[in-house]
Amino acid sequence: MTRDKVKKRIEYLVNEVRRHQDLYYKKAQPEISDREYDALFDELLKLERRYPDLALPDSPTKRVGSDLDNEFPEVRHPFPMLSLDKVYTIDELESWIEKSRNDTGYDISFTVEEKIDGSTIVLHYENGILVRAVTRGDGFVGNDITENVRTIKDIPLRLSEPVTSIFRGEIYIDRKDFEKLNSQFDSIYANPRNFAAGSLRRKKSSEVAKIPLKSYVYEGFYGDVSIKEHLKVLHKLTELGFRVFDDVGYFSSTIKKEYDNIFKKHTGWVRGTYRDIDNFIIRMKEVRDKLPYDIDGLVVKINEYPIRDKLGYTAHHPRWAMAFKFEAPQAVSEILDIDVQVGRTGRITPVARIKPVWIAGTTVSNVTLHNQDYINSLDVAIGDVVAVSRHGDVIPAVDEVIEKNDKGNKTFRLPEECPVCGSKLIQDGAHLFCPNRNCPARIYGRISFFVGRGQMDIENLGPETVKKLIELGLIKDIPDIYFFNPDDLLGVEGFAEKKVKLIKEGIEKSKEQPFEVVLASLGLEEIGPKVVELLIEAGFDSIDKLIKTAKKKKPDIFTKIQGIGPKTAEKIIQQFNDPYILDMIEKLKKAGLKFSKGKKEKEEEYSKIFEGQVWCITGSFKNFKPRETAMEEVKKRGGKVVSQVTGKTTHLLVGENPGSKLEKASQVGAKLVTEEEFLKMLNEK
Ligand code: IVH
Repeated sequence: MTRDKVKKRIEYLVNEVRRHQDLYYKKAQPEISDREYDALFDELLKLERRYPDLALPDSPTKRVGSDLDNEFPEVRHPFPMLSLDKVYTIDELESWIEKSRNDTGYDISFTVEEKIDGSTIVLHYENGILVRAVTRGDGFVGNDITENVRTIKDIPLRLSEPVTSIFRGEIYIDRKDFEKLNSQFDSIYANPRNFAAGSLRRKKSSEVAKIPLKSYVYEGFYGDVSIKEHLKVLHKLTELGFRVFDDVGYFSSTIKKEYDNIFKKHTGWVRGTYRDIDNFIIRMKEVRDKLPYDIDGLVVKINEYPIRDKLGYTAHHPRWAMAFKFEAPQAVSEILDIDVQVGRTGRITPVARIKPVWIAGTTVSNVTLHNQDYINSLDVAIGDVVAVSRHGDVIPAVDEVIEKNDKGNKTFRLPEECPVCGSKLIQDGAHLFCPNRNCPARIYGRISFFVGRGQMDIENLGPETVKKLIELGLIKDIPDIYFFNPDDLLGVEGFAEKKVKLIKEGIEKSKEQPFEVVLASLGLEEIGPKVVELLIEAGFDSIDKLIKTAKKKKPDIFTKIQGIGPKTAEKIIQQFNDPYILDMIEKLKKAGLKFSKGKKEKEEEYSKIFEGQVWCITGSFKNFKPRETAMEEVKKRGGKVVSQVTGKTTHLLVGENPGSKLEKASQVGAKLVTEEEFLKMLNEK
């Protein structure tokens, strides 16, 4: 068969198999026998194996997976996949709702959805076809697990409309399936969530196909301004073929008539006014145990997308949504001892060592007691039996004392001297600090921070190695990392030639880290990634500029920057005038670290051709996916970008299938620009 014929045959078989599946499963009116069907399916499978490049991404065979080993390449998300802010009580939730209503000043409404305890999935569809499925990863970069996700029966390989968009949902497994299968796999997973996450990462998609994974999709049409309300998005998702929650709540000041149709179609969805939210939540708490899968709370979201855009995001979560967690997972244990830790800033933290307990999927054996005030308020002593909880991702804490010890131990008191270097501790706010920056604990803390993940990220130079290097006297502070001779490690236990070579490579590679990473890695007080970003945006794109300005000792130069308060300004000035810190920076400069934004990294110079113009966008585009990238080009060239057409809008970028904005733009006399014209404009310097 020629390739052309194979292609045609594959297309024919795909259509036939799909048609017979439809007749069999949906209409219950099969036209052919099971054997005939199997023959079609097998022929398709064989052809696809022989000609993998001709296989269609939405072929029905994808559901059975493949025996080939999958790789999960890392892919960057087109925009960050953020997490959710959370509250634990109805009171806190009500305050958030109240605050959102007041802050926005509009008559906003809210949806309430299940917060399903599964594994996040980001689904990319192009012209209605599932082309990529990516894990959330760290929110910026995830793993491409497309082949595995294609085996999940309720995730459409092809939508009912040829939309190009990104959708977000959750993959999970029903509790009873988990229990059954987990025992077959020697109970390796602690809970259904881990089981689902683990299954998704199996190497062979044919194995994944055997696991009854399921999905819910709850967000989509990011940046598509033609859909303005979440409730409509949820409804649209069902129409496209996704599985959406059966019991969505919708709450507003008054009942909107325009949603009548939606509620007619979704009989499980309920609506009411704000006053009904509490009842809905209480009802959902009861429904929870009857659901076949685990939910760990509810998600309350602002319904109106233009308001969502206005509220925006923090680095971690959207400001337009809030998770209401049913409970902070708790356990009871006994305090065996209390250690006093000294952090890199000298901050003293009392840490209770407890009898290991299992809380929400992890063994906990260390819990924080924060500071002396906290200890006093709980009245905690060594030997007490305490309730311990994990609130989300933060470090576990002691919540309350359940039973006092019978050994006569009194409320724990922090020492007056640093347990490591003996310096007298000083009080600053609620915390005690060791003021000695040469305190070994502080030195260890700041070096490990500097080399750690999220900072300079020096591979093969973890906390244990840092400890060893200090012990051996090879390094005394951060700059020494770049001046000691790693060969001196040869012969030390655990440091074979290979390991030493890797350490060298890691150190060398870290010199490539950009200025913003270097600066934040120094671990200076108040100067974390967010402040560094603000400083660079405000034009402090080199350390020299920062130091020069700090020398003037005028806090208002820094407080003028939105997001930088007086305390931060003071710390910036103080630290960049500190000879010790300046000396450290000098040494690191000599080592070759980047202390300014390189030319290439600086924003390229664009002529400000869109200065004074106000742009809006509608429809979809060939060259701009997601289409926000087009608006980024406008911003770079001095234009302003808005999400809705108003009288002030001067230009509307019009793509395929434009929305109602097109009409509005014509009414207000905005200039309509096609993708082609836009590309021309961008190329004109
Ligand atoms: S919305 C930008 N809705 O919970 C925020 N998330 O703790 C998008 N989750 O990582 C998230 N059910 O994977 C949203 N109905 C729901 C959800 C939900 C579960 C997950 C989500 C997120 C995590 C945050």
